[in-house]
Amino acid sequence: MKRILIDCDPGHDDMMAIMLASSSNELELLGITTVAGNQTGEKTYQNALKTLTLIGRTDIPVARGADKPLFRELTGAPEIHGVSGLDGADLPEPGVQGVEQHAVDFLIQTIMESGTPLTLVPTGPLTNVALAMLKDPRITTKLERIVLMGGAVFDSNITPAAEFNIYVDPEAAKVVFGSGVPITMVGLDVTNKALFGFDDIEELSRLNGKVSRVVAPLLKFFAQANKDIFGFDGAPLHDALAIAHLIKPEVIKTRNMNVEIETEGALTRGRTVADVYGISNRTANTDVALEVNNSLFKELLFQAIEVLDTR
Ligand code: BDR
Ligand code: CA
Repeated sequence: MKRILIDCDPGHDDMMAIMLASSSNELELLGITTVAGNQTGEKTYQNALKTLTLIGRTDIPVARGADKPLFRELTGAPEIHGVSGLDGADLPEPGVQGVEQHAVDFLIQTIMESGTPLTLVPTGPLTNVALAMLKDPRITTKLERIVLMGGAVFDSNITPAAEFNIYVDPEAAKVVFGSGVPITMVGLDVTNKALFGFDDIEELSRLNGKVSRVVAPLLKFFAQANKDIFGFDGAPLHDALAIAHLIKPEVIKTRNMNVEIETEGALTRGRTVADVYGISNRTANTDVALEVNNSLFKELLFQAIEVLDTR
C-alpha cells in the first residue's frame, strides 16, 4: 500500500482527488494540507474539512497552510470554482476541526517520522511544499516522489502560457522542481482530456447515494464553468488524475525530461519549460504525462463514488 499526503486547494477536482484517495485500497492517505489557491486559505481549508465530513473520513488529519504565495498576491479561480471554492451544492458543515499544527510543520513532521518514504501529491499552488523544503531540506531526501497536478507542455489555462497552480506561485514551483525529488508532472496536456462529461454526471446523479447526490451537482457547476470558459464538454478532473495514476499507473503515459519554471517572463510567468526534444542538455528532472486513458480514469471515479455511497 502506497502511503501518501495530499496538499490541496479544494476546488472541485481537489475534492475528487481526496475522494479517490480515501476510498482506494491501494493508498493510505496520512493527511491533507491546504493552501490558498482556487479560493482563500480559510475557504480551501473549510472545503477540505467539509469533504471529509461528507464522506465520513474525519479521521484523516487536516492542517491549514499558507494564505498567499511566497512573494505575490493570491490569484484565485472563482470563475471556475465559485465564491465558496466548491459551488454547486450545499456541503455539510465540518464535523471536525483540523490539527493545530501549521501545514508546513505537519508536512515536515509526517515526512521525517515516516518509516517508509512517502509520496506527496500537491494539487494546488506549491507554496506549502516549497516552504517545507526551505524550512527543513532533509525532507527532499525522505520523499519517494512528488506526483503533482500542475503545468503543461503544450497547453495552458490561466494565461496563454501557463497553468493555474504553477502561475499562482512560480517561485514556489521553482523550489520544488529544483529540489532533486523525483517528480511526476500531471499537467493540462492530459488533464484537459480527462473530461467527466455531462452524460457521466447524469449517470452519477442516478446513483442517488449519500455522496453521489451531492457530488453530481457540484460537478455540474464545474463542468458548466469549463464549458463557458474553455468550450469543454465536461469537467476536467485535473487533480483526481494525479491520484488515479497512483492507483493505476497506466492511466497516464509519461516521458522523462527536463522541466524548468519561468518566474520572470512578462508573458510567460509560470510556464513549465519542458525540454521535449532534449535540446537544452539540462538534466531530466520530471516524468511528464503526455497521454491519458480517460475511460479507465472514469471507471476509477465511478468505483470510488460507489464505495463512498455505501460506506
Ligand atoms: C488546477 O487549477 C485549479 O483550478 C484546479 O483545482 C487544478 O488544481 C488546474 O489548472
Ligand atoms: Ca487544485
